Amino acid sequence: MAQYQENATIIRFEQFTEDNIRLTLQSDNIAAVAKPGQFVMIRTALGKDPLLRRPFSIHQSSTNGRIQILFKVTGRGTSLLAHCKEGENLSVFGPLGHGFDIRPDRPACLVGGGMGIAPMFFLAKMICRMKKNTASDLIVFGGRTRKEVEPLVADFEQMGMRLLTATDDGTYGAKGFVTELIHGLELPRETVVYGCGPHAMMHQLHIFCHSRGMECQVSVESVMACGMGACLGCNIPAKNGEYVHVCYEGPVFKAEDLVWK
Ligand SMILES: Cc1cc2nc3c(=O)[nH]c(=O)nc-3n(C[C@H](O)[C@H](O)[C@H](O)COP(=O)(O)OP(=O)(O)OC[C@H]3O[C@@H](n4cnc5c(N)ncnc54)[C@H](O)[C@@H]3O)c2cc1C
Ligand code: FES
Repeated sequence: MAQYQENATIIRFEQFTEDNIRLTLQSDNIAAVAKPGQFVMIRTALGKDPLLRRPFSIHQSSTNGRIQILFKVTGRGTSLLAHCKEGENLSVFGPLGHGFDIRPDRPACLVGGGMGIAPMFFLAKMICRMKKNTASDLIVFGGRTRKEVEPLVADFEQMGMRLLTATDDGTYGAKGFVTELIHGLELPRETVVYGCGPHAMMHQLHIFCHSRGMECQVSVESVMACGMGACLGCNIPAKNGEYVHVCYEGPVFKAEDLVWK
């Protein structure tokens, strides 16, 4: 799989909440080869603080050479990104990792919680491209409050899939966690569930899918340094007793192959 380091121009800066931001980047080479579930490593500072690039899921990739990332400000690197301006350039490396294994012959249920919504848009877009009919497919996504969820609804509605939303405070969609919404659904056993979100959410998703015999693929996070298998920094335990590199064996894994606690 080809990987590129590009000087990507910020085409659009969208601020959804004080700390939820979406950037559209002109990144022709990465956009041309990116797959849903893959990520990019972005240099957030010109100097040495922070020294390491930060990983972000590819939220969307389009045929006009653009990619988007959707991120939350959590520390120094993301805070610097939040102060970028349209027209500035960012050093972007990718696409990296192993994305979702899309099963176009099966019903799909996409579940995104918080910033876990990020990879779901690209995935939904690709599923729509691969399938003639998405009537049996479902997107479920949620966040803490209305401001995090509402700005993304119109984009997801374009996919023609059934859409359900939830917020922790009940200000948009159902009140509660996305996993609570899922519990009330009758999903065919052959459904493939694709999830991304906080660890506890994906754990619940795994329990739900396992109890119903449904395939579940999850995109997991770990702190990364190199992003390409060289530093061992991103290792997490796997069910077989070994460790896996999130950066190049993941970030997408079958939920049943991981250790959940
Ligand atoms: C494959 C992958 C895809 C990701 N996609 C997205 C995305 O689409 N949108 C988004 O907002 N974030 C995403 N993240 C998380 C993002 O990389 C971190 O929020 C970012 O690196 C924090 O950098 P910082 O310098 O702002 O914070 P730091 O100062 O480095 O850290 C701030 C706090 O966040 C914690 N932290 C840092 N990195 C991670 C991590 N990877 N997982 C959990 N906690 C972490 C630190 O322990 C610390 O408590 C992704 C992470 C991975 C591994
Ligand atoms: S981040 Fe270095 S091995 Fe995965």
